[in-house]
Order: sequence, then C-alpha cells, then structure tokens
Amino acid sequence: MAAADAPVPELQARADACAARLCAADRVLLASHIDADGLTSAAISATALERAAIPFEVVFEKQLDADSIAAIAGREYGTVLFTDFGSGQLDIVAEHERDGDFVPVIADHHQPAEADTECHLNPLLEGIDGASELSGAGASYVLARALAARSTADERLDNRDLAALAVVGAVGDMQASEGALHGANEAIVAEGIEAGALEETTDLAIYGKQTRPLPKLLEYASDVRIPGITNDERGVVSFLDGVDVSCRSGGEWRRWVDLSEGEKRTLASALVKRAVSRGVPAFKIDRLVGTSYLLSEEPVGTELRDASEFSTLLNATARYDRADVGLAVCLGDREAAFERAKRLLTNHRRNLSEGIQWVEERGVTREDTLQWFDAGDEIRETIVGIIAGMSMGADGVSRDVPIVAFAEKSDTETKVSARGTGPLVGRGLDLSAAVGEAARAVGGDGGGHDVAAGATIPTGTESEFIERADSIVGDQLG
Ligand code: C5P
Ligand code: C5P
Ligand code: ZN
Repeated sequence: MAAADAPVPELQARADACAARLCAADRVLLASHIDADGLTSAAISATALERAAIPFEVVFEKQLDADSIAAIAGREYGTVLFTDFGSGQLDIVAEHERDGDFVPVIADHHQPAEADTECHLNPLLEGIDGASELSGAGASYVLARALAARSTADERLDNRDLAALAVVGAVGDMQASEGALHGANEAIVAEGIEAGALEETTDLAIYGKQTRPLPKLLEYASDVRIPGITNDERGVVSFLDGVDVSCRSGGEWRRWVDLSEGEKRTLASALVKRAVSRGVPAFKIDRLVGTSYLLSEEPVGTELRDASEFSTLLNATARYDRADVGLAVCLGDREAAFERAKRLLTNHRRNLSEGIQWVEERGVTREDTLQWFDAGDEIRETIVGIIAGMSMGADGVSRDVPIVAFAEKSDTETKVSARGTGPLVGRGLDLSAAVGEAARAVGGDGGGHDVAAGATIPTGTESEFIERADSIVGDQLG
C-alpha cells in the first residue's frame, strides 16, 4: 500500500510487518477481548483473514493473563493474532514467543508492558493516544487494510467497508465521549464514508435515537440531566404534549428517527429551552448535540443502524458469555443470532439500570482522591466497569474524582474497575498506572488506559488496594 493510501501513516510500517507475518502463516489463532471493541476487532480481523485466504479460528477471553495465554499456547497454532489485548501482557506473551510456543501478532491500544516483539501494532508506540484516538478495532482495521494491500489485487476488497465496524468499536470504547471521534479515528471515519459504509450526522447526542420511543429516549437520557425530564416519566409526557410536533402516530409513540428534519429541530430546541429554564449550565447543554455515526447498510430504526446502539448490543452478548452471538451479528447474521442478541440486550439493559440504582442507593465511600464501592456479588464482574462509569454524575457520585468498583470474580479473586474523566486525565490522572501498580502491590495485576482501567486482586486485599490507589492518584493529581 502506498503511504498516501494508508489510513494511519504513523502505523503503516508496523501494520505491514504484522500483515507479512500473517500471510506467511499456515493458520492463525485469533484471540480477542469480550467487549464491543474486542468483538468488532475480531470481526474485522476474521473478515480480513478470510478475504486473504488465511485459515483461522477465533477464541475470546475475558481477560488475558498467564493462565489464558498458556491455554492459547496449548492450542498449538504457530501464529496467534491478539486483538484489543496483548500489549498489556506483552511480558508473558514474549516469554512464550522465546520458548517457541507461538509467534505473536498484536493489534491493540492498551498500555504496553515492558517487553517487545516484532509484530506489534499499537497507537501508543507511535505517539497516538490509545484511550481516545484509536481503539482495538481501529488497530485491527489498520492491519486489515495492510493485509488487503498485500494479498489481493482486487480493489473492491480493499477492506474499507470494515471501517463501519471499526467505528462501532471506537464508540463502544467511549472514544466519542467528547461529542465526536477525533485523531486517527477520524481518518477511519473518512475511509468508511468514502466506501459508502458510514454516514456522519450532527444530531441530538442521546442514546437510543433509532429504537426508543420518544418518551423513553428522553426519560433515560442521563448524560445531561434535565430536571423534570430525566427519570421523570410524567414530566416527559407533558413536555412532549406541549411541543409543536406530533409525537404520536396511530396511538403509538414515534421514535427520533421517525421525525422529519424540521420536527427534530423543533423538538431539540424545545429541549434546550427547557434545560436552560431549569438551570442546566451551558457547558452541559452543549453536550446535548454531537456527532452520530450511522451504518449505511443497516436498516433505519434497528439496533445496528447507529454505532452507539450497535456497540451496546454487542456488549449485551459478549459480557454474558455469548461472544459467539455478537461475532455472528458483526459478520452479517440478521436471523437467529440477531434475534438472540436483542433478547440479551433486554437483559443487559435491565442489569445496567438495576446496577446504577444499586450504586445510588448504597452510595460510594469517599477517600482523599477517589471514591469507591464494593458490589460483592450484586453486580456481574463483566459489567461493573460500565456501571461505575455510568454512575459518575448520578445522585451522590461525583465526577470530580475517579471511581473504583469491586465485584466478586470467584471465591478467591476480586475484579476491580476504575473510571475517570477527560478533565481528570488533563490534570495528570493515569488509572492504568495507578490501578496496575496498586494491584501488583497486593498480589494482583491490571492495566488499561489513563481514563479507564481494571485489575484482578486477591479477595481480602480490597482496603489495602484502595489505600495504595488513593495515594498514587493523589501523587498524579498533585
Ligand atoms: O478493553 P477496552 O480498551 O476495550 O475497554 C476500554 C474501556 O474504557 C471501556 O469500558 C470504555 O467504556 C472505557 N472508557 C471510558 N471513558 C473513556 C474512554 C474509555 O470509560 N473516555
Ligand atoms: O474491565 P473494565 O471494563 O473495567 O476494564 C477497563 C479497561 O482496563 C479495559 O481497557 C480493560 O481491557 C483493561 N483491563 C486490563 N487488565 C485487567 C482488567 C481490565 O488491562 N486485569
Ligand atoms: Zn478496546
């Protein structure tokens, strides 16, 4: 591929090295992470390997650690492609490589451990921010583009169509949380638009515009809380009845996508007016508008049309041991797997809302520089991080300090999830370093990103973990 043609030129040399290695393999074991970004990473890589006629098999892991890497080595594949994880465990991976167990190829965006390997594609190695500018799916997309350039002369198979999935992964990792994707992600968006796979629109920045009836759309919107609207069913209905837009059709509530452009503008400006009159500060009102990423090939009004709804649907599968379902949906199954995914989504939504309610009712404990809660077995360890992030800003949970959450993983292990905010990172917060260091100090391990990190620690070490993390975060924030 000519450099001018590369989606992320800084990463092209690494992508070429990775692609060359994959093309030389007899068969590849593709290992990926169980969240929306991990699933889309796997789908992009699987499609690219298939198009390059390289035989492969896919496995998913909740977390890559010494045990899961040993199990992967036991599969006896000469080449293992790690997507959306691998960098953080590079020390262990590199040991297996030295022992001749497998040759690793890594497409990831997590903070790398101290070690190196030849085929390692990670934005952080080239000065690109892995938390906000490129996801695991984005790294996989860069690799997929390089693979196409090497293995086919057919221009129609240049893999640009896979940009749509890369955007779903980035949005799933909250990389659009400032209102739009930026940095290397923007180049991927541009390729997706050029390929006809993606559309970008400026619209109301509320989750559920494709599928939620208008009252539910507004009632559940919790990012920007508007008194008399957020969590207020009756308030929302009277608000909608007072707006000059017919919000019902044939007795049924319409959805945002059912409205004309003019109706959308009328409703959006009524909402802004309401927020202003209820004293919502201007910087929050600005957050009501943002960029939406739409998948051109998907039908309007479905869970797959908008990248943010698509990513939630994927989390609803993989975080409940059904990564196979989410992967099948990404690969085009619109029948059994899609139906199953929608049922899993109902369950996931209920768990999220019950989880947030639980945090609000039980409250968090405030330390000097962070706040925390221990969900025990009340919240599944695979979604406790999502709930921790969503609960920031809820009743009694501050957005001014990071949040740490614990959940029971097994009788002997506790899962840790930590979440921060952009402004905290701007002041020096690095949760990957804080959580990783505190976890290792108590006999566990962890890592992630500056704004979001996780760990596993031995049961019973939670208070010592908090004490250490609190002090490290204190040093970071000065
Ligand atoms: O393992 P992975 O990198 O895919 O997960 C990233 C995690 O970081 C996601 O759970 C995402 O929600 C979280 N995140 C966040 N806020 C951001 C960026 C990422 O909570 N601004
Ligand atoms: O699990 P959770 O959603 O809290 O993870 C937040 C971030 O930390 C993710 O990017 C995840 O991959 C990373 N993480 C990690 N090591 C762990 C647990 C999570 O690097 N043991
Ligand atoms: Zn990721």
